[in-house]
Amino acid sequence: MGVTLPSRFKSPIHLTFLSILMLYSLSSRSQYDIIPKPKHVEIGSGYFEIKNNTRLAYKYFQNDGMNLLWNFVNYGLKIDLKPVEYEGNDYPENTFCFIHDDNVEDYEGYKLEITENQVLVKTGGFGGTIAACQTLKQLIFLNDGKIPVMTITDYPTFKHRGLLLDCSRHFFSAQTVKKYIDALSFYKMNTLHWHLTEDQGWRLAIDKYPKLQEVAAWRTEKDGSRYGGFYTKKEIKEIVAYAERRNVRIIPEIEMPGHSQAAIAAYPWLSCTGKQVEVANDWGVFKEIYCAGNDSVFTFIEDVLVEVMQLFPSKYIHIGGDEAPKYRWEHCAKCQKRMADFDLKDEHELQSFFISHIEEFLNENGRQLIGWDEILEGGLSPNATVQCWRGKEFGQIAAEMGHDVIMSPTSHCYLDYGLDAINVEHVYNFNPIPKELPKDKHKHIIGGEANMWTEHVPNDSVLDSKVFPRVLAMAEVLWSGPDTGYVEFYDRLQKHYPILDAGLVKYGLEAEPVMVSSKREKDKTFLVFQPGVPNLEFKYSYKDTNLLNHDIPYRVSKTLTQITHLDTTINYVDPIALNKTGRLDVQAYKNGEPYGTINSSEVVSHKALGIEPSYKTNFSKYYTAGGNSGLTDGLLGTHNFRDGKWQGFSGTDVDFTLDFGKEIEFQEVALRFYQYNNAWILQPDTIEIHYSKDNKNWNIFTILHGPMASEDRDKSIELIGDVYKNKTIKARYVQIFLKSRGPMPAWHEAAGSDSWIFIDEVIVR
Ligand code: ACM
Ligand code: ZN
Repeated sequence: MGVTLPSRFKSPIHLTFLSILMLYSLSSRSQYDIIPKPKHVEIGSGYFEIKNNTRLAYKYFQNDGMNLLWNFVNYGLKIDLKPVEYEGNDYPENTFCFIHDDNVEDYEGYKLEITENQVLVKTGGFGGTIAACQTLKQLIFLNDGKIPVMTITDYPTFKHRGLLLDCSRHFFSAQTVKKYIDALSFYKMNTLHWHLTEDQGWRLAIDKYPKLQEVAAWRTEKDGSRYGGFYTKKEIKEIVAYAERRNVRIIPEIEMPGHSQAAIAAYPWLSCTGKQVEVANDWGVFKEIYCAGNDSVFTFIEDVLVEVMQLFPSKYIHIGGDEAPKYRWEHCAKCQKRMADFDLKDEHELQSFFISHIEEFLNENGRQLIGWDEILEGGLSPNATVQCWRGKEFGQIAAEMGHDVIMSPTSHCYLDYGLDAINVEHVYNFNPIPKELPKDKHKHIIGGEANMWTEHVPNDSVLDSKVFPRVLAMAEVLWSGPDTGYVEFYDRLQKHYPILDAGLVKYGLEAEPVMVSSKREKDKTFLVFQPGVPNLEFKYSYKDTNLLNHDIPYRVSKTLTQITHLDTTINYVDPIALNKTGRLDVQAYKNGEPYGTINSSEVVSHKALGIEPSYKTNFSKYYTAGGNSGLTDGLLGTHNFRDGKWQGFSGTDVDFTLDFGKEIEFQEVALRFYQYNNAWILQPDTIEIHYSKDNKNWNIFTILHGPMASEDRDKSIELIGDVYKNKTIKARYVQIFLKSRGPMPAWHEAAGSDSWIFIDEVIVR
């Protein structure tokens, strides 16, 4: 690539994230475009230019620290000079001077005083040195190899700034993990939360239990192929040291008591039943968990943790604690005896007993426990740090109890979710501090993490596309603080794409290019395109596709037809009348080039469009389908139940009424349901549809059973309802009552948990 570089930049190029400087003249730059945004910046005029004889000097640094610094700076900045220690009070010219300064309060804080003669770097500690280097690298990249004269005073808002990387559902190489450590450090994130054990794979070698690497690290996929891998101790030590040099600490997560089926496959005596199971090859929550009544299980876990602590110097050890179905414990004599012996009133208290035991062990070894927010259930010792995932409210409860809290709620921090649920702006709008948390408890919110679960991330490209650019928004929130101004952040973000390109990061989009919604105006419904990012143009095709044509009695199971090409395209100008039942395909364009892939929506024209149900039961705040008008907006959901089109009801029957305002005529009423028992979503037990002219006297339209068996594993969407071929109903009101199937049944991995009902549309024709 035709980039002219000054000679000192011509050392061998490693195409890693850190060699971005080699490519610094790729795009227009600005000194303001640092991510995360520094706390205070004063801009001067002119530049410090790196010359052949530019030196690197240091003062008041411990030797060790200086060695690390030098290795790091030399590698990152490609300044081909040995550092020299200097004395005296004048700072030498033409030099990067690194000074440890006790006045810089935060360990990760730093001050940059850049003049045309020198770059003075004052740091509070090693973390600050690394942060300062990363800022310098960004400045050099963003300003064509020069460093603008300016003063920066910078320090983090939150001390815990992390990314969870799940290397268990899918395995990622040591090299990939290092690339992520580089990226985290570059954006001033200081924690890699390394998820190493799961139902689907155990990823670290433990000498005392060799079957963990021989058996638990490998699964047989549904097609018969073998999948897996693990990190050797040598690799782990290297990765930990690599991270340390970049001010990234690695917190290993060793899951217990749930998500441990892979370990149980290797050593069946770890479970309540002792029966042989396979390493899981499906996603979800599994009921094979460690037995809490068997002392050898605790010996096993402690043995494992001893080796884990030898590998990872981190103060924190994450022990999971989430999603542990209690079904096996309820039916295990040993677990029940343990409960009786220790006067534990239920299985939640048994989980608490389990976690407390492990916590004591970690504390005795000088370490601290982190667990997912379920560890709050059944009581918890005050030393434990709680990582909140189910919702900010759990973080608030933990903080009010005096626990330190790491915030990573599904609402903003789950990078495995699609862009339709969590886009860059959404991540950027994350505030780790719950609104209602009293001021004196804010100190307990020590920071946050972006969580990268990898069930659906089979390779590095997909991984990159999910993590980037969203993690830059998370880095900004956690370092600079919430809400520094999205528009301005968005501009800065654009300047970082050449940096990511140079680091060979295959970043994804910032948002779904287009979200299709519908709006009601003067008794008509229109389809509206909402651009996900600025400056897009659209082409679309809207065609009748025979969608929902059916026989009686009916049950229609449909998948989106395969997308091929837009055969007729019309430039998008105005809202489109929703007047056909069929498919709307939209392609976004940016600067004349396709941006993202075709967005396909299935839409239904019917008589209830725009009629808002009046609800007797509440839908979940997480699955709203856009709110009260979501079930009659004409837009059907996809097999991604987080696509924003589905309305979900958890642990309840569903009861609502449509009021058409006047009598209308119809022959057909139907609802579309989602079922996916891995996600605890089931069709209703019963579907009752009634109609009335006066809201007092009701007639039965139909009563049906959800036809799909709960046991059915597939993701399925079905239209279920009824139609009168030879009769027309006249009514003003339609009432829908859906009886839930109740808790997940005994055979299910999550037996006893509330099931969901998911609906995307009520269709009246
Ligand atoms: C989690 O997402 N189960 C922590
Ligand atoms: Zn048991």
